[in-house]
Amino acid sequence: MTADGIEEPRHSTGHELVVVGSANRDLTVEVERRPEAGETVLGGDTRTSAGGKGANVAVAAAKLGSRVAMVGAVGADSAGEELLGSLRAAGVDTGLVRRCRRPSGAAYITVTPDGENSIIVSPGANGDLGVPDVQAAAGVIAAARVLFTVPEVPMETVAAAVRSARDRQVRVVFNASPVTDLEPDILAAADPLVVNGHEAAWLLGVGPGESGEPGELVRGLRELGARSVVVTLGARGAVTSDDAMGQVTVPAPAVTPVDTTGAGDAFSGALVSRLAEGAQLPEAARFAARVAAISVSSWGAQDSYPAADQLA
Ligand code: RIB
Repeated sequence: MTADGIEEPRHSTGHELVVVGSANRDLTVEVERRPEAGETVLGGDTRTSAGGKGANVAVAAAKLGSRVAMVGAVGADSAGEELLGSLRAAGVDTGLVRRCRRPSGAAYITVTPDGENSIIVSPGANGDLGVPDVQAAAGVIAAARVLFTVPEVPMETVAAAVRSARDRQVRVVFNASPVTDLEPDILAAADPLVVNGHEAAWLLGVGPGESGEPGELVRGLRELGARSVVVTLGARGAVTSDDAMGQVTVPAPAVTPVDTTGAGDAFSGALVSRLAEGAQLPEAARFAARVAAISVSSWGAQDSYPAADQLA
């Protein structure tokens, strides 16, 4: 029994990383340009693949060799089977992914010729992932080195996961995407908080176009209370800040993007994989920028993530 009164279930442990997050079936179409309101445009053939910010991070880290457990929810439908299949194929433990009555989450994605994506998410089963799912995972979380979570599942579930890990001295990596208001104790537990420039500006209440230097965003987020911070900058790499190493800018390799969908998740997956091995934050971010660059060079999210032996 823990301080918060939760019975610790007996689970097989040995996972370095626990991900509490979403799994979606991604339906992607390539378009020359996105339609205006009331307009119809023709696109390419639909590509169907496994996605969802939580599952993407779990798969990215597992492909790089981490032992990963996923806490999530999918529907009792064919999409749910496919999403579980993709996680398992990468070696992720899906024992804590629940099948439920709502349909599996789906993401409707357009990609333009410059590789940029825009996404609408229909959460479906992800919306059913609740605090009891986190309580059921308490033993697995307690035995992990890192907990990663992302609010494509209900924020109360995310908050319960963060507090569960924090109270057991497990490192919390929190990706605030989609960006939302954060309780001060959630921000304070983030080590690091991972955001892109838009999300950082939103959290700081800075208007579009006035966001200033990435370094200022990083400083602002630490002043707001985050224990450490990574601001990702796409093709420009990332800026990290923590007590041990101060503020560091890491570059990204130059690549011609095909599809940027899930690149941020590839970054987070590689980041947590290295942090779980004990790397310093800038070193983990440098590795993560390399992995994200590889991921944008081919279609899809999980399908585009490299295995460790492809990085030699
Ligand atoms: O970050 C990319 C992911 O966002 C996609 O895989 C999609 O499912 C949405 O969750």
